Amino acid sequence: MRVLGIETSCDETGIAIYDTTEGIVAQNVYSQVDLHAKYGGVVPELASRDHIRKTLPLIEQTIADINASMDQLDGIAYTAGPGLTPALLVGATLARALAWSLDVPAIAVHHMEAHLLATLLSPSRPQLPFIALLVSGGHTMLVKATDFGEYEILGESLDDAAGEAFDKTAKLLGLGYPGGPEIARLAEHGRGDVFTFPRPMTDRPGLDFSFSGLKTAVQTAVRNARKLDDQTRADIALALEQAIVSTLYIKCRRALDEHGIYQLVLAGGVAANQRLRERMKELDAHVHYPPISLCTDNGAMIAYAGHERLKRGMSTDLVINCQARWSIEAID
Ligand code: KG4
Ligand code: ZN
Repeated sequence: MRVLGIETSCDETGIAIYDTTEGIVAQNVYSQVDLHAKYGGVVPELASRDHIRKTLPLIEQTIADINASMDQLDGIAYTAGPGLTPALLVGATLARALAWSLDVPAIAVHHMEAHLLATLLSPSRPQLPFIALLVSGGHTMLVKATDFGEYEILGESLDDAAGEAFDKTAKLLGLGYPGGPEIARLAEHGRGDVFTFPRPMTDRPGLDFSFSGLKTAVQTAVRNARKLDDQTRADIALALEQAIVSTLYIKCRRALDEHGIYQLVLAGGVAANQRLRERMKELDAHVHYPPISLCTDNGAMIAYAGHERLKRGMSTDLVINCQARWSIEAID
């Protein structure tokens, strides 16, 4: 079975084809980063207009890359949420129309589940049950996965996501978007003993997160700095990265201990962070990641998640139904 995956939930147009026996056979990602850079974040209307321009040509290119044709597709998977509604609708509408015209099933995919399942595309596959830390620009959550489609949220951010904390700090420091990679690069030159930012909500029980206070801490540091030269900005970047990494580490260790599970999956854009990966090595657990290119948004994870559902006989009817908010616990 060959499944086309379409990802348009935010600022990446991701297209890929997953084949039952060969795995991912083709994939392309077009990033809108340059389009949104000057606004310091994603503008939904601009995102959806760009998806309209890019999605169909990118599907055609992806199919041409392997000298295949549309009629060799056995199913179409698309991100149905969570995400930006106008952006989601582009992928969903195109996917539904293609599936109808090719007379193959379409399948709606949950974006965060796809991030989580992307880990199964790495050579070291985690075994169920496992704990997953999903850390992206829109979400930070700890999830217990007991079976395919069976997820329990153990904790989540009460305000900003970890990626958002990176992005907002990058903006305060005059860096580009997305902020995570920029902060990580700058932090390499930072001195660890100059600034210390809080590790929010680690001093009380529970697995929830709160990252919005970090923005205020950074704002205060910026305001109090005698001059915001390159070294100071690097010191702030390092302190922020350390605060986020330590907080995520402490909560993961707590979740693993509380549930007696020692398989951890890290997924979502922030899972690409090297300092986070280094720190997680200290855990007494097997830690699994998707291949680094599949940490940030892509079509491969959607094609694969869709394939796993279609394989189980699931499909989505003709209704085009996208959900900006959609709990991972509520997946059918
Ligand atoms: O999963 P993703 O591509 O999109 C969403 O679904 O949100 O995640 C994007 C987020 C952004 O906030 C970005 O700053 C962050 O992931 N990110 C990183 C790194 N690469 C991407 N954060 C920290 N370190 C990185 N290397
Ligand atoms: Zn994502």
